[in-house]
Amino acid sequence: MEKTWWHTSVGYQIYPRSFYDSNHDGVGDLRGIIEKLDYLSDLGVNLLWICPFYKSPMDDNGYDVSDYYQVDPLFGSFDDAKELIEKAKERGIRIILDLVMNQTSDEHPWFIESRSSKDNPKRDFYIWQDPKLNEDGSIAPPNNWASFFGGSCWNYDERTSQYYMKIFSNKMPDLNWENEAMREAMYDMAKFWLDCGVDGFRIDAIAHLAKDLTFEDSEMELNEDGVAPDWKKFSNRPRLFEYLAEFHDKVLTHYDIVTVGEVGGGADVEDAKNYASYNTKGFNMVFNFDHCWYNGAWDDFGRTKGKLPVDVVGLKKRMNHWIKGSENEMWIPHYWLNHDHPRVMSQYGDPERYHRESGSMLGMLLLSLPGTPFIYNGEEIGMTNVDYEDVNDFRDVWIKTFMQEAVKRHSYEQIMNHLRRTSRDNARTPMQWNAQPHGGFTQGVPHQKSVSNYTWINVASQQHDRTSIFSFYKAMIQLRKDSDYTDTLVYGDFELIEALDTELYAFKRNYDRNLVFIANFSDHEKDISSLNISGHLIINNYSTFTHILKPYQACLIEV
Ligand code: GLC
Repeated sequence: MEKTWWHTSVGYQIYPRSFYDSNHDGVGDLRGIIEKLDYLSDLGVNLLWICPFYKSPMDDNGYDVSDYYQVDPLFGSFDDAKELIEKAKERGIRIILDLVMNQTSDEHPWFIESRSSKDNPKRDFYIWQDPKLNEDGSIAPPNNWASFFGGSCWNYDERTSQYYMKIFSNKMPDLNWENEAMREAMYDMAKFWLDCGVDGFRIDAIAHLAKDLTFEDSEMELNEDGVAPDWKKFSNRPRLFEYLAEFHDKVLTHYDIVTVGEVGGGADVEDAKNYASYNTKGFNMVFNFDHCWYNGAWDDFGRTKGKLPVDVVGLKKRMNHWIKGSENEMWIPHYWLNHDHPRVMSQYGDPERYHRESGSMLGMLLLSLPGTPFIYNGEEIGMTNVDYEDVNDFRDVWIKTFMQEAVKRHSYEQIMNHLRRTSRDNARTPMQWNAQPHGGFTQGVPHQKSVSNYTWINVASQQHDRTSIFSFYKAMIQLRKDSDYTDTLVYGDFELIEALDTELYAFKRNYDRNLVFIANFSDHEKDISSLNISGHLIINNYSTFTHILKPYQACLIEV
């Protein structure tokens, strides 16, 4: 493995819709990001991943692209994008775009042509199949496969009496990667943005490009929607890696860029190596979701009140599995959350009683791991899940389908508890800049309600407070990016300490320095005298350090 710039980079994901609204129409925009570049520079991050801002009808907040070459007017103009890339570069900040290659919007000109007739040259850019006929002569989808957003993964189109495949929403038809002309058009688009100066991509939903082209029914048991959630039918299939190798050879290899694929659930470490091992023609690294649900929020389904207990041992084991499983073979990214997951502060922290302590502990942990860290906007000030009381305050397209089934089985209170813990909207609320209305995100009406704790959880109150979560993120970023400890933090070996302890998250990092990271993942004191740790304290989120750790205390020590 050769050392390279993106190993020592610190990533920061921006959800542009909710970051900063410069023109007060209620939606964040690219000029808003430009205005906040100094803030990002002060924090110290130097690799921005910006969620899609291409032209889109916004059925799925921009992951439904109708024109890859244009910026959606909601977010600004193409010139704004160019200016953002340039101004970020001036500050040593690189930008990677979210590349959406599995599907387009149904309003993309390709799909408009494709659906117009069976013999249109673009017909084959998407996946069309004849209906199945029921015994009574009525029609049914071509097979029983489920979609990620609920219901079947097929949608009927009356114009040509066929179904098109869509593994997300009806407005997001899947592209047919078997079609060479389509693939070439995608490569041209990727080159276009690289030539505009972006430094790489986060590649969306990449595990799903290849489908089981027999389209045979799944044998899996049907769910309550009467469909089989058999994701293997369109995830991590061998043919996918041929497409990726082609993309790599024709585009990626010609630029000094970084690529991070999203492989999501279904892929374990060994599958991930097919995408990103050092000797694969794929990406530089891939995101997995494995560490995201160690408080059992999905299984609880809103039955329990209050904070859910974190399975610290499970969390450590899972993260360790990726770190050890990839050692010497594959570089990995680390993150606590993204725009598809709840806020880590509400998930694993303690926003009510130990906001500062648990938020700084989580940040220090993330930034002490090997690999490339990605912080999600708002995480650096400990933003929390929503406090909505009304289901109509949620915005995610997925919730409509979800509600149809959920109301049949659960009380309103349970559903609300469930959504407040699991919904993707938890991460999509307006960034909390100050204590002004809507957290200073907009002077208009925000596209989505802010969390009411913006009055005390906000950037302005933390940026100049040396004991704030923000300040611990900033200090750790500095240590990681540019200090005597950089090599050890980035490249050092990793070894868990007391892996089976249910409250402690501790590990060694060894390279040219010997470091120990130690965190109390609980809300009470924790005796660590048996560990005999002593040495030079590099950073500590309390003012003292003894053999009794305080609630959520975290320290990095040179031993
Ligand atoms: C990815 C995105 C998610 C989107 C989906 C469909 O998982 O992160 O937000 O809904 O792909 O593009």
